[in-house]
Amino acid sequence: MGKLNGKTALVTGGAEGIGAATARLMIEEGAQVMLADVQIDKARALADQLGANAQAVELDVRDLDQWHHAVNAAQEHLGPLNILCNIAGISEPGNVIDVDLDSWRRTIDINLEGPFLGMRAALPVMEANGEAGAIVNIGSMIAIRAAAFVAAYSASKAGLLALTRSVALDCAERGVPIRANMVHPGAIRTPMYDRYKFSGADTPENIETNFAATHPMNRIGEPGEVAKAVVFLASDEASFTTGCDFTVDGGGSIRS
Ligand SMILES: NC(=O)c1ccc[n+]([C@@H]2O[C@H](COP(=O)([O-])OP(=O)(O)OC[C@H]3O[C@@H](n4cnc5c(N)ncnc54)[C@H](O)[C@@H]3O)[C@@H](O)[C@H]2O)c1
Repeated sequence: MGKLNGKTALVTGGAEGIGAATARLMIEEGAQVMLADVQIDKARALADQLGANAQAVELDVRDLDQWHHAVNAAQEHLGPLNILCNIAGISEPGNVIDVDLDSWRRTIDINLEGPFLGMRAALPVMEANGEAGAIVNIGSMIAIRAAAFVAAYSASKAGLLALTRSVALDCAERGVPIRANMVHPGAIRTPMYDRYKFSGADTPENIETNFAATHPMNRIGEPGEVAKAVVFLASDEASFTTGCDFTVDGGGSIRS
């Protein structure tokens, strides 16, 4: 029996990277999954590969109307929504002085306002379904240990941590059986990571060595390692866990 048998999940950023790995593992664990992404062709191709329990919908997480459409599509095609995973995100370099204003706003819009709009669209629907539910938001070890070279990203992920806790408290105080938790990855081998690795700022080997060194376990993580934590928090196995943030970062957030 899978950890998510009979559950319906909506996963943003489902076209590739951590979102794709999470969707894949959720399906293996018995869930039906709606992959939501701006890269709709990639999301559809993955949904086709994953089989009848996966579907795809176009979603720009910055657009509330598109969120309503995605939530309705999940309910209509797959079943009552139990799980929302806010995984879509971007990371663009820039310290507080250099960061381009458009990049700052884009990062806050996608990484912080995106999950806010998603929870605003999905929570009332999940509540109305009357079943136990879970929200899992993806943060970063940078939410705990800010980094100078990514000012907007640090702020967006720390903001999302506070927002996740606020939602967890709100649901608990209102007696709504929906939990809200967060997973903080370290550097994970995905297209996002590769954009840094192959940025040309240094050789890919040196960039990898330097990224690995910021984690006491001295390596880059794999998307499947993050997916396992997301699935646990999304499942009923985490039934008394809410407002928690769970690191999958090789110790990166506690390094001395
Ligand atoms: N890879 C890492 O090293 C790392 C580390 C810490 C946290 N994270 C976080 O994990 C999450 C996933 O990262 P990843 O490495 O898989 O990234 P990725 O770039 O490999 O994949 C991100 C996905 O999000 C989608 N996306 C981007 N903007 C969107 C938007 N406006 N609306 C809908 N979809 C959008 C992209 O199309 C893509 O499919 C992000 O929130 C990221 O901040 C990643």
